[in-house]
Amino acid sequence: MEFSVKSGSPEKQRSACVVVGVFEPRRLSSAAQKLDETTNGAISALVRRGDMEGKLGQTLLIHNPDNALCDRILLIGCGRERDLDETAYRTLLTQTTKTLNETGSMEAVYYLTELPVKGRDIFWRLRQTVETTRYVLYRFDQLKSDKDTTRRPLRKVILSLPNRRDLAKGESSVRIGLAIAEGVQMARNLGNLPGNICTPTYLAEQAKSLSRINKQLTVEVLEEKDMEKLGMGSLLSVSRGSIEPAKLIVMNYQGGSKDDKPVVLVGKGITFDSGGISIKAGAAMDEMKYDMCGAASVLGTMAAMTELQLPMNLIGLVPASENLPDGNASKPGDIVTSMSGQTIEILNTDAEGRLVLCDALTYAERFEPAAVVDIATLTGACVIALGKHASGLMSNHHPLTSELLNAGKAAGDRAWEMPLWPEYEEQLKSNFADMANIGGREGGAITAGAFLSKFTKKYHWAHLDIAGTAWVSGGEKGATGRPVPLLVQYLLDKCKCL
Ligand code: BES
Ligand code: MN
Ligand code: ZN
Repeated sequence: MEFSVKSGSPEKQRSACVVVGVFEPRRLSSAAQKLDETTNGAISALVRRGDMEGKLGQTLLIHNPDNALCDRILLIGCGRERDLDETAYRTLLTQTTKTLNETGSMEAVYYLTELPVKGRDIFWRLRQTVETTRYVLYRFDQLKSDKDTTRRPLRKVILSLPNRRDLAKGESSVRIGLAIAEGVQMARNLGNLPGNICTPTYLAEQAKSLSRINKQLTVEVLEEKDMEKLGMGSLLSVSRGSIEPAKLIVMNYQGGSKDDKPVVLVGKGITFDSGGISIKAGAAMDEMKYDMCGAASVLGTMAAMTELQLPMNLIGLVPASENLPDGNASKPGDIVTSMSGQTIEILNTDAEGRLVLCDALTYAERFEPAAVVDIATLTGACVIALGKHASGLMSNHHPLTSELLNAGKAAGDRAWEMPLWPEYEEQLKSNFADMANIGGREGGAITAGAFLSKFTKKYHWAHLDIAGTAWVSGGEKGATGRPVPLLVQYLLDKCKCL
């Protein structure tokens, strides 16, 4: 897929297709008006006849338009102009991409970057176009014998810019959009791979191959014996029931100067979560292959970083393990000692994410981080609380909270804050250890966050619960690549690069 930027009038484009917007009710955008003039009113005639109302996402393809230089014109409904926000913009881009890909235009010129999206400038619109187009065209068919191929797929998108002066900056927006799309794609691929292929060892291999092609990135993989030496009794209690060895993947991106404090990302990497001895019910258990989507988002963000070459330091940590029942597996009531020295009573082996994360979070201290963000498909309770539209955000530092919330808004990958008040910690009391690993049904997403907060006292920290956002279920089952866009935006903002 190729993207480029260009400035020029719609009626002058020799192209397979020119894409222009129509607002509800039946109002032509300025690009549509120009094309209407050259085609002797062909567009306004169709609109008047009722073929195109302008409802959001509506499409109408005009073949061989009179007098025009292009083969086709695609009219795309934009809804009411005053309702054109980020979500509406993505909706109309999605419809555009689907329609073009299915109707034989292998190349198209978009006059959609000129649409007035509330509060978002041309550069934001360029980036979104690139990201959304790549998102829609994504297929995961590496494990299918018959790949359903489109005979004439969309290959090239030319994005129009009203102002010639913006071309250079426009090109850099496209580059950022592509880097994010690349990161999202990597996260989706890793997420969609089944548990028998995407094991902790496989994740470690992926990290290593990223570092082989980028000299700013170095990767070290800690084995179980290394983790034993570090006293990671909590992490190791999770992999006991599996024959796949646990790994702690340490990725180090050095784009800044030596003494710049790094941001540390920690991604939950449970490559399959059966629940362990506290085994899960059978329905939809296959979806627990997605329990490594936090890890996938860290790898995807690293990949985007190596493309963007941002001038900062970033560490990615992935505690990776399976969670399976076995004669060796941890049992409810077992007590383990974490790397921090705190003891944990495992009342439910299905609350394993926090058990691997807590040791990785303690390990993060050695980097003297500017901030630590962990990303985890941590609780079903978060899905109940927020649904699939927002990731749950908890933090011990207000400015970090705002930075992440704003990054999510700008990237179209939103998070929503949940309270981390000390009251919630009471639910984690244990009669036999320093804490229990579960806190009962009430506020389940928050008590999971409260558990992690006991291991993050030494630095600014935020936790993103992505259980609802990392993948979608049902007929369109698949990984979303979230929250790679949020994370990359946060890093871009951090080094003030756009
Ligand atoms: N990976 C799951 C969380 C999850 C469940 C994400 C369903 C998305 C959909 C996590 O390891 C887990 O099992 N959490 C338990 C915690 C409970 C035992 C306190 C849960 O949410 O039920
Ligand atoms: Mn679990
Ligand atoms: Zn899990």
